[in-house]
Amino acid sequence: MKVNFVIPLRKEMKLIPLFLFLIIFTACKTSSEDGPSKTSSVSSPGNVNTIEFFLDATGTPHYLVKHNDKVVIDSSSMGFEFKGQNPFKAGFVIKKTTEKSFNETWEMPWGEQRSVINNYKELFVELEESAAPNRTLNVYFRAYDDGIGFRYEFPKQDGVDSVTILNENTQFQLTGNHLAWWNPGDWDSSEHLYYTDSLSEIDAMALKKADLAMSHIVDNSVLTPLTMRTSDGLHLAFHEANLTDYAGMTLKLGGGDYLLTSGLVGSDRLGYKVKRALPFVTPWRTIQIADKATQLIESRLIENLNEPNKIGDVSWFKPKKYVGIWWEMHLNKSTWDLASGKHGATTANAKRYIDFAAKNGITGVLVEGWNTGWEHWIGFDDRDGVFDFVTPYPDYDLKEVVRYGKEKGVELIMHNETSAAPRTYDKQLDTAYKMMKSLGIHSVKTGYVGPVLPKGEYHDGQWMVNHYQRVINKGVEYQVAIDVHEPIKPTGLRRTYPNLVSAEGARGQEFNAWASDGGNPPEHLPIVVFTRMLAGPFDFTPGIFEISLKPKPDNQVNTTLAQQLALYVVIYSPIQMAADLPENYENQPAFQFIKDVGVDWEKTVPLNGEVGDFVTIARQEKGTGNWFVGGITDENKREITVNFDFLEAGKKYEAIVYKDGAKAHYKNNPTAIDIEHFTVDKSTSKTFKLAEGGGFAISLKLIK
Ligand code: NOJ
Ligand code: CA
Repeated sequence: MKVNFVIPLRKEMKLIPLFLFLIIFTACKTSSEDGPSKTSSVSSPGNVNTIEFFLDATGTPHYLVKHNDKVVIDSSSMGFEFKGQNPFKAGFVIKKTTEKSFNETWEMPWGEQRSVINNYKELFVELEESAAPNRTLNVYFRAYDDGIGFRYEFPKQDGVDSVTILNENTQFQLTGNHLAWWNPGDWDSSEHLYYTDSLSEIDAMALKKADLAMSHIVDNSVLTPLTMRTSDGLHLAFHEANLTDYAGMTLKLGGGDYLLTSGLVGSDRLGYKVKRALPFVTPWRTIQIADKATQLIESRLIENLNEPNKIGDVSWFKPKKYVGIWWEMHLNKSTWDLASGKHGATTANAKRYIDFAAKNGITGVLVEGWNTGWEHWIGFDDRDGVFDFVTPYPDYDLKEVVRYGKEKGVELIMHNETSAAPRTYDKQLDTAYKMMKSLGIHSVKTGYVGPVLPKGEYHDGQWMVNHYQRVINKGVEYQVAIDVHEPIKPTGLRRTYPNLVSAEGARGQEFNAWASDGGNPPEHLPIVVFTRMLAGPFDFTPGIFEISLKPKPDNQVNTTLAQQLALYVVIYSPIQMAADLPENYENQPAFQFIKDVGVDWEKTVPLNGEVGDFVTIARQEKGTGNWFVGGITDENKREITVNFDFLEAGKKYEAIVYKDGAKAHYKNNPTAIDIEHFTVDKSTSKTFKLAEGGGFAISLKLIK
């Protein structure tokens, strides 16, 4: 069996000045052996995490992970089941193992931080079946100080052109009944609440009747990122990186105590999980490992396991705050469709939002419900061919709105709701993106509400993964940044395709406006920061000031106003909405924070936090030297002390803190807010009182 690989075997150094890349390859050693094996292992550069690989007596591949010499993932087997071929399970021998070290520093065009260190040690294992037809399978293991990743490679080989995968059987054998923050492994939706249970208590099937526009739960499984804490206080977060032309992975419970097994999202229409021609690689299976919860926030493992920027210059997109014709629909004040007689996307209304944005230094305006088709979207089965992505309703003059925005320094954010009819979107993709480019529109919010058409496909399956990728590629072609709602979960592809700027992929603010379960509970975001947010930017849409939602007496936002401000720092997204109606911001001193807060960061410093309870994050704005701090709590009030020792020595900052009033409470007194001015330097320390469901936000302006 011949395997073609180019493995760097010598020291080489490359300097690419454009991206300031520093890449060091160092090959360590190569070994060949036959027959069931001894253990091969690789440790992270700081010897924090170790991966061991071995074949058991039957020749089944296994791995094990240690953190500081303690086993955190016990012996876990690996394998695949195929249509029309014997499974990959037992009978392997190791042909060769190769180790290498890698260290580079790369720059994010926008992000939580400017530069990212990507430093790992790799073990590459080449396997072959000992019996005919002697098929081959390779595994790459990468050990980082903040976690590990591994991926399979199906190399080019004689006699096998393609595989149809029915199941991937990658095990994750945990060492105890850890406490997990989970949501169900729904093939169609990541908009369930998060639950907190020990592994043995997780019951995803109990959630089958969730009140969602689409939901498909087939087994007792959970979505990733899945975060858990061991009884020793260690944190483990499971996810995947570089999900390309493959099915999304859930984690199935069962089959053994504290055992998780990869579950691939399938296609009932096609009758398989994944079909690929050889050669190909699977996404990385990732485990972030952290002694403290806040270290999960610092980890860039997911991005590091993706390839560098493939699309070149992206200076045509600028991180921005935006407002939009959006919340008014969720409040039932206006509608997306024209027929109701309450159409929101009129030329005059769009100009009103543009005026408000321009007055407040906000550079983006989203207009939903501008195009024809909204009379026939949610709740209809025959949604193919309905939405038109270039034809405005007659009361909306798209060209005039664009012109008016340009005059005021405000760019339109296009909106393309597909109603989960991707074939209709695919057909119009080129026309729609060409139109955006011709109008000078550089970003689009897409949406995929509803069960996918054709029936039998699901949001997280391979067929949809490829659709989402086609949209990203089209965005590259026409210089359009994508913000996907009802997306495939982020897996770090933003490194390779920076135009994939943001995504939903968790319960957003909108649920507060209409969910029949009372909206997002106060613990929602303190969980999301340590779960969904580990995957990438989140377009949550913060900034609701009229918390009681007067037009909807049965609904309200379950946070204080001060927490709404804190979310601009706590949640990372290069596009951040000021989601409330312009009139709700008028004469509100707290709106100053939204005007001031940055959207693109030089550095991120998580100050404290525990999953599901509270979190405080400091971020330094790129280009200004200003810092912003946001802290949020769950339903419990608490005191948080901030040591400003993250500030630069010898510098002074003018601080404004926006904090919960003495009697604030998310339920009955959410808008009580105190605003105080003070001066800080590196030696300052201050304690803030957070109300139930509360928070605080601080802007720190460098005194020059
Ligand atoms: C769901 C999105 O999450 C929401 O933001 C949008 O308003 C609706 N779809 C309509 O596209
Ligand atoms: Ca949504």
